Amino acid sequence: MQIDTAHMQVQHRPLPRFGFELIESLEDAQKVVDVFDTAKIYEQLAHSGAVIFRHFTDTLDDFDQLVKVHSSHVTFDPARKASTENTAEIDAGVFEMGLHRENGNLPFIPDLQWFHCLEAASSGCETTLCDGQRVLHELSPKVRMLFEQRKIKYTRRIPWPNVRRFLSIEFQLPLDEIDDSHLELVNLRVPGQTYRRLDPFLISSERITDAITTSCFSGKRAFCNSLLGPSVNYEPPVISWADGTDIDLVVWDEIKEVTRRHTYDLFWSRGDIVVVDNSRVMHGRRELTDPSRRIFGAQSYRKEVSA
Ligand SMILES: [Fe+2]
Repeated sequence: MQIDTAHMQVQHRPLPRFGFELIESLEDAQKVVDVFDTAKIYEQLAHSGAVIFRHFTDTLDDFDQLVKVHSSHVTFDPARKASTENTAEIDAGVFEMGLHRENGNLPFIPDLQWFHCLEAASSGCETTLCDGQRVLHELSPKVRMLFEQRKIKYTRRIPWPNVRRFLSIEFQLPLDEIDDSHLELVNLRVPGQTYRRLDPFLISSERITDAITTSCFSGKRAFCNSLLGPSVNYEPPVISWADGTDIDLVVWDEIKEVTRRHTYDLFWSRGDIVVVDNSRVMHGRRELTDPSRRIFGAQSYRKEVSA
């Protein structure tokens, strides 16, 4: 479908200091799902890493459609309960949640993270966004080189029902067809991933990967990972260098300091839609102080766009 972008009633307002794109609707009853095509959204993502759509009138069903139309396929956090075909309400506890790449310590990592604000909070509860492309530039040459030369390792135990659901979605197979042979298949297919069965209900997962990624939208490198993100719905992973040695405290301190300087606090307005390049921009959340806040989320893979 070709969309006549020349007649869009929108205003672009890049966020000073952070560069994320804020696009505001200037017309009543205008929906993101009707106005933007995939090429336009991907172009914005390549440019700024995250796009915030404000004052549009998409419903939850429209948001569901938006995710579907601009993705090759949709995935889920296995610990969450589905709420629509492609999206789920986010329930990640009340404590502050550190910056992370969505599913960054799992063997399959979505390209896109989507958010839709159904009810805004009266105060606090900001979602945090941090551009890993900028962070990579700001790290000291010594720390940057460390992460260029060494991989990191996430080690943790995950309940079998969660692993099973995750693999059923990723392999696009019915849940009851997933068994231990699929754990082996992932071990073979995904370099750095080792699943091991511990008992009927528990799987051990070891994930060796790079902390520095290449954005699938901009093609540029970014410090984008889940080093700082706690796993709200799971046992927190043990994070080390690939050989199991500790990452030095000085390195942790520098990562925390540099990411903190580049973290934007998004205070939600009702109806906001946010699209994040999950191979470049990390996200998190401040402490949840207003329980009436309602945010839906989705994760998906990008699709091919003809030039
Ligand atoms: Fe997340």
